Amino acid sequence: MELAPRICVLPLLLLLLLGLSTGAVVDLPTGEGKEVWDYVTVRKDAHMFWWLYYATNPCKNFSELPLVMWLQGGPGGSSTGFGNFEEIGPLDSDLKPRRTTWLQSASLLFVDNPVGTGFSYVNKSAIYARDLATVASDMLVLLESFFSCRQEFQTIPFYIFSESYGGKMAAGIALELHKAVQQGTIKCNFSGVALGDSWISPVDSVLSWGPYLYSMSLLDDQGLEEVSQVAEQVLDAVNKGLYKEATQLWEEAEAVVEQNTDGVNFYNILTKPAPTSTVKSSLEFTQNHLVRLYQRHVRHLNRDKLSQLMNGPIRKKLGIIPQDCSWGGQANDVFLNMEGDFMKPAISIVDELLEAGVNVTVYNGQLDLIVDTMGQEAWVRKLKWAELPKFNQLKWKPLYSDPTSSETSAFVKSHENLAFFWILRAGHMVPSDQGDIALKMMKLVTQQE
Ligand SMILES: *[C@@H]1O[C@H](CO)[C@@H](O)[C@H](O)[C@H]1NC(C)=O
Ligand SMILES: *[C@@H]1O[C@H](CO)[C@@H](O)[C@H](O)[C@H]1NC(C)=O
Ligand SMILES: *[C@@H]1O[C@H](CO)[C@@H](O)[C@H](O)[C@H]1NC(C)=O
Ligand SMILES: *[C@@H]1O[C@H](CO)[C@@H](O)[C@H](O)[C@H]1NC(C)=O
Repeated sequence: MELAPRICVLPLLLLLLLGLSTGAVVDLPTGEGKEVWDYVTVRKDAHMFWWLYYATNPCKNFSELPLVMWLQGGPGGSSTGFGNFEEIGPLDSDLKPRRTTWLQSASLLFVDNPVGTGFSYVNKSAIYARDLATVASDMLVLLESFFSCRQEFQTIPFYIFSESYGGKMAAGIALELHKAVQQGTIKCNFSGVALGDSWISPVDSVLSWGPYLYSMSLLDDQGLEEVSQVAEQVLDAVNKGLYKEATQLWEEAEAVVEQNTDGVNFYNILTKPAPTSTVKSSLEFTQNHLVRLYQRHVRHLNRDKLSQLMNGPIRKKLGIIPQDCSWGGQANDVFLNMEGDFMKPAISIVDELLEAGVNVTVYNGQLDLIVDTMGQEAWVRKLKWAELPKFNQLKWKPLYSDPTSSETSAFVKSHENLAFFWILRAGHMVPSDQGDIALKMMKLVTQQE
C-alpha cells in the first residue's frame, strides 16, 4: 500500500512542483520534508511498522544522499519513537527542530522491530520473535517490500545504524541482507552496518563492568570482588550454553553493581536521574528477574512523555495505527520472548560480515556501563578476521566535532572494512549525549567527509 499522508505531503508536493518548475532548490523547514510510512505484514499475524523521512538538505536532492536505517535496542525499544524523537530525527520530543538531526545528511528509515515493538504488532502471542534468525528474516521481508515499492532508493547507498540490542539485530540483519543482495532477491545498494554500544558479546560486557567501574572510582575493593564473582558465574553459564540461566545471572550481576555503586546509571555513569518512585516500588515487589530486566532496559525507552507523544499527536498524524494497538503496548512481550537469545554472542556474525567484505563500524560511548567500551574491545580482539593484527597495530586518530576547538570529541581507527569510533563524553545513547560528533561520525561512515 502506498501511503500518502494527506496532512503533510500534499502542500509539500505543490511546493516541490513549484520548485521544479522554476528550477529552484526547495527550501523546506526542518521537520517538514517528505515523509511516508506504512505497515508490512512480515509473517501471518505479524505487522511491522516503518517510517521514512526523505533527506532535507538545502543544497542536495535526497537522491545524492545515503539512506540510513536506524534500529533501536531493548529488544522492544521503538526506532520510530526513541531513535526518531530522542536521538536523530528532525524533531525532538517537544516537537522542536533538532539541530543535529541526521536528516540533513541522509534519508532516515525507522523500523519498529522485532514485531510487537512500537507501533508494530502481532495478533497472536505465539508470533513474537524468539531468536535472532526470526528477527532477521522478518526484517528481510520488510526490506524486500520497501525496496520494491520505493525503487528510487534501490541505487542509493544504504546503511544500517543501530544501538544496543539493535546492534546485535543489525549484525544478523546485515548478513542476511548481504546474501539477499548477492542472490538478487533484494535490490538495494547495501553499503555497510554500524554497531553502536552493541550487545554483540554480552558476557564481555558483564566481565568488564568490575574493572571499568573500579577504574572510575565507582567500586571499592570489596565491590570489585563481588561484581567479579557474579560475572564469572555469568561466564560459566554462557560457556555451558545455559543461556536462560545466564540471563538470570546477568540480572543478578546488575543488582550487585547497583548495591555497590549507590545505584550507578547503566546508561551514563556520570549522570544520575532522579529515581522514579513507581519504578522503584515495582522493582522491589517483583520476583521475576525478566520483569526486572525489562523495567531496567526497556521501560526507559518508553518513558511516559514519549509514550504520550506517540499515542497522542503522532498516532493521530499517522492515521493508520489500529485503534486497539498502542505504541509500546506489546514491548514487554517482545522482551520476554527473547529470553533465550539475550546472552548469546554474535561475534561470529561480525566475522562473517568482515569476511564477506561488508563495511563494519563499531562505535561506543565512553561513559556507557551496560555496554562499556572495554567489553567491546574484548570481543573485537576475539575476531578471527585475517586483517585484525593489522587493525590492532594502527594508532588511533583524534576527531574534533568543532574544527576551531582543540577539544577531542572522539578517536577513530580504521583498516580495510572495519572501523572503531571511541566517542568521548557520551553514554549508551551516543547521538542523544553528543549530537555533533555522532552526526560527524555518520557522515564519515557514509563517505561524506
Ligand atoms: C530528486 O531526485 C529524484 C530521484 O532521482 C528525481 O526524480 C527528482 O526530480 C529530483 N528532484 C530535484 C529537485 O532535483
Ligand atoms: C490484529 O491486531 C490489531 C491490533 O491490535 C487489530 O486491530 C486487528 O483487528 C487484529 N486482526 C485480527 C485479524 O485479529
Ligand atoms: C551504490 O552507490 C554508489 C555511491 O553512490 C554508486 O557509485 C554505485 O554505483 C551504487 N551501486 C549500485 C549497485 O547502485
Ligand atoms: C568501505 O570502507 C572503505 C574503507 O574505509 C572505504 O574506502 C569504502 O568507500 C567504504 N565503502 C562504502 C560503500 O561505504
